[in-house]
Amino acid sequence: MRKHKTNIYMNVKRNLTALLLLLWISFGFCAAQNREGLKVHYLGANHSLIQVVSPKKYLLLPVEEAAPEATVHVLVNNKAERTFTVRLAMNRADYLVPFDLEQYKGKTVSFDIHSGNSRSNVRDAMEDVCWDDIKLADIFDTANREEFRPLYHHTPLYGWMNDPNGMFYKDGEYHLYYQYNPYGSMWGNMNWGHSSSKDLIHWEHHPVAIEPNGLGIVFSGSSVVDKENTVGFGKDAVIAIYTSAGASQIQSLAYSRDNGKTFQFYEGNPIITSDKECRDPNMFWHAESRKWVLILAAALEKEMWIYTSDNLKEWTKESAFGKGYGAQDGVWECPDLMQLPVRGTDEKKWVLICNINPGGPFGGSAAQYFVGDFDGKTFTCDTKPEVTKWMDYGKDHYAAVSWSNVSENRHTIIAWMSNWQYANNVPTKQYRSANSLPRDLELYRAEDGELCLATVPAKEIEALRGEKALKYAAFSVGKKAAVRKLPVDNSGICEIELDINAHSAGKVNIVLANEEDEQVVMTYDAVNKTFSMDRAKSGLTDFSKDFPAVTVAPVADGEQQRLRFFIDRCSVEAFEASGRFAMTNLVFPKHPYTKISVSTDGGQCRVNKLTVYPLNMNK
Ligand code: FRU
Repeated sequence: MRKHKTNIYMNVKRNLTALLLLLWISFGFCAAQNREGLKVHYLGANHSLIQVVSPKKYLLLPVEEAAPEATVHVLVNNKAERTFTVRLAMNRADYLVPFDLEQYKGKTVSFDIHSGNSRSNVRDAMEDVCWDDIKLADIFDTANREEFRPLYHHTPLYGWMNDPNGMFYKDGEYHLYYQYNPYGSMWGNMNWGHSSSKDLIHWEHHPVAIEPNGLGIVFSGSSVVDKENTVGFGKDAVIAIYTSAGASQIQSLAYSRDNGKTFQFYEGNPIITSDKECRDPNMFWHAESRKWVLILAAALEKEMWIYTSDNLKEWTKESAFGKGYGAQDGVWECPDLMQLPVRGTDEKKWVLICNINPGGPFGGSAAQYFVGDFDGKTFTCDTKPEVTKWMDYGKDHYAAVSWSNVSENRHTIIAWMSNWQYANNVPTKQYRSANSLPRDLELYRAEDGELCLATVPAKEIEALRGEKALKYAAFSVGKKAAVRKLPVDNSGICEIELDINAHSAGKVNIVLANEEDEQVVMTYDAVNKTFSMDRAKSGLTDFSKDFPAVTVAPVADGEQQRLRFFIDRCSVEAFEASGRFAMTNLVFPKHPYTKISVSTDGGQCRVNKLTVYPLNMNK
């Protein structure tokens, strides 16, 4: 009897266990959870589906930068509409990014999510914090949360930015597009973000202008104003040509009839293809030959290919430039070709800008240029192949390209103020990367007879100078440093004009520092004719081994140096006042620099001018 009872008990226990297991398995693989307005279905260890039940304006996605990228297919009325990647939070959400649901108003939207993990157990996946933190909202807060966000340099409101591209000027406004990831502050999902400005300094943010399509994500390119309607999309239509990056890189055309706010894809895309990796088309109207010219970077060939066209749609390859020329260590990217005046003469010469990565003079990315002639089809370089000329001698000046359709006498460029070596790791989260100051280009003839680029900060920046400039009286200084204050109540954000005469000093040290002794050490070496900037102790540097660095520029002969420094929350840009060198470096001081000091390695140096202008955006 007792034995029989035990058997019954054993059977019940076994069945119960089986039932529980069955329940667990079915729960494990078919579990759905309701969140406010959302239904999350856990479909497998690496697969989930979110149904939006009662939509709001945005779906806010929690991002953890250390997490792998999940692939999200957006289904609208069950149809695959788009795909993007996002680092969905597993352990903690670093920040939220919005997905705009308004665009699908009245339709059903769901998100088919394949996590970037390779888990074998759905229970682990269900524990990821993203499922608790994901939410619907009518507002996405873009108020700044970053201590290092610059004041007067352009940054995206949130998300990742790299190259500036597609820039044009029209009806009093400068349009700036940029390589943009709206779903996280690291590289991915390339779109063209869009901002515009009347003065190159105060930027208004606009919705994304060009989004990925079936041909690929949207890499860099350029835009022109089609004044004579050569392409047939209307007089003054804005035409963008960019790289569609899918499995291969091909060139696509998009046009805008509302001054660059929105773009339509040309149905005949792609317009240029190749079996080589080619990208970043840059075009302009060549008045002499009455043709459009496009220059395309054949990245791995380390060549720039030159095309011509009558209608912007059909292009003929005319020539290639670059084999063996200049810096060749990295891939060639982001070209630009323009005719510039030579200062003090009636002469004009052509300049071909070629951004390269890596292979820059201080590691990673940098912009080189070639001076020569262009006959509408072929670029001929003035210098020998072994000559390399750099546009900027810092570590954080890349993808420099110019605005199109600006007046004939003005050639204004802007660069991405970062370096591929560490751009994804700099200590910001809400957004990543700023642009350099906009700069005007000209050529000048250097002492050795070479034609070189002069890079001068756009004059519009001077309007930011506050009324209360700190004008320090001229002084002489030796080994013992003379220390002067920077504008503390302005978080150290300023422009500094410094005119020095090295006299008997071999080296003049110019140091920006704060009370914690974080410092940027700049040195004018009158003997070796160099200007250098050392940021090894400038603040936070340990996010990348490549960040601490000393950058060095050659300077023109002469004891006298007129220098200009622009300091924003995370950058120092140094210029020789007439633009003979530029040096752009990021810095992340824990507190703003509060003082500038000048000293020498021995002899006496005369400081003829030291003026500090607090820079102010309200003007
Ligand atoms: C340069 C670059 C370009 C490309 C883009 C992609 O930084 O690599 O060649 O178009 O970035 O974001």
